[in-house]
Amino acid sequence: MASTSDFVVVANRLPVDRVTNPDGTQGFQRAPGGLVTALEPVMSASEGAWVGWHGGIDEELDSFDKDGIHLVPVPLSEDDLELYYEGFSNSTLWPLYHDVIVPPSYHRTWWDRYQKINQRFADAVLRIAAPNATVWVHDYQLQLVPRLLRLARPDLKIGFFLHIPFPAASLFAQLPWRKQILQGLAGADLVGFQRETDATNFLRSLRRFTDYQTKGREATPSLDNDLQNICRADAHPISIDYEQIQRLSRDPQIIARAAQIRHELGNPKTIMLGVDRLDYTKGIRHRLKAYGELLADEQLHAGEVCLIQVASPSRENVGSYMELRDQVELMVGQITGQHDTLSHTTLRYLHHSYPLREMISLYLAADVLLVTALRDGMNLVAKEYVAAHQDGRGVLVLSEFTGAADQLTQSVLVNPHDIDGMKVKIMEAVNMDEAEQAKRMKRMNHHLEEFDVAGWSDRFLSELADINSKSVPAKEN
Ligand code: F6P
Repeated sequence: MASTSDFVVVANRLPVDRVTNPDGTQGFQRAPGGLVTALEPVMSASEGAWVGWHGGIDEELDSFDKDGIHLVPVPLSEDDLELYYEGFSNSTLWPLYHDVIVPPSYHRTWWDRYQKINQRFADAVLRIAAPNATVWVHDYQLQLVPRLLRLARPDLKIGFFLHIPFPAASLFAQLPWRKQILQGLAGADLVGFQRETDATNFLRSLRRFTDYQTKGREATPSLDNDLQNICRADAHPISIDYEQIQRLSRDPQIIARAAQIRHELGNPKTIMLGVDRLDYTKGIRHRLKAYGELLADEQLHAGEVCLIQVASPSRENVGSYMELRDQVELMVGQITGQHDTLSHTTLRYLHHSYPLREMISLYLAADVLLVTALRDGMNLVAKEYVAAHQDGRGVLVLSEFTGAADQLTQSVLVNPHDIDGMKVKIMEAVNMDEAEQAKRMKRMNHHLEEFDVAGWSDRFLSELADINSKSVPAKEN
């Protein structure tokens, strides 16, 4: 491994999970996920490195190699996690970028630490980036990194991808540090977004709150700006490792497990499924409200239907997530208490994460997947469910407020705020005939086969490579 890399990925987390080896020692194993799978070929062809937090608290680790990727750990202390991760990233930016579903908090101490940690990530990149290297920065935790890199190393080719939505200018306006965030992102040659609307929102904010002028998809700084690169903003919707999901969905053990799940639930006529991080953006309460009312109205009946709700633990030290857990668990208790019988449950709530193989079994067991997010950058669960249904069965109920809704247009689209409307659509999904299910699944699968995660990273990186690091004339001092 060379001491510098021509291709560097930087994200809040490294793509590894900590594990205890059989001999009791601690180690890392590759975390499952489309991003790392997509980047693997580029990584190995260019001696690539990945810079990110390794998940430990107050722990300095040396760089190490895992499955052909050079990993560069960035340390975070307990304070850093509280102020930069739980604070500014997940209690300021996350709610602001998700349409203020819960009110964002604005604290100067959080902002100070966000700047400091972004500098720490940028410094780690600067130590390993070869001359003229390509650096791909990921997500809302690191929006200042493109500018920090550009100021220190104008030779770098810098891409940024935002995995979550970018809000409308009227909401983004609330952020006391809106100008710094925009300038941070504009240090990149290319900023990628999930949807066209996100790219447009970003360019509008850039125009409104900074000295940049925009034409089409390109933003140009004024001659007074200390950066003189042109920044391009484009939609690059992320996707899944289609080949892997469809292969797993044909695995006889996974198919047998799906049958076992159905059997253990008492062979209900309809299994519905929800799979989300336990996050207020996911619309879990809206979904449970609609489901509870369908049972109360006797449109659905215990013994004939079961909703499996997987809610994986997330950001458990953040107050709004603690409150949400209480609210969801109260609703689960109300529904099961009212509608379960001694022999049948109407709702199986699972506050766990599951390995991918178990997830595919759940997708196969489910007749209907409910994705009712109030706002979601993409929603890869929706795409995985479709890819798992090579059998042509199953119906996807999908919120209009997800990035995936732009592409999975043969889903049953819902507005999760409209409980009555959602109830009608859920019943439409439950009663959809098999020929219609197969027709829709086939068309959505065609789309996913063509637009998988490898295509996503290829398209982003080739657009970035084609940008001839255009810059406006240098400022005279
Ligand atoms: O959707 C944005 C995202 O950061 C994903 O990349 C990640 O899987 C998820 O949110 C959970 O993030 P974390 O557990 O790191 O806060």
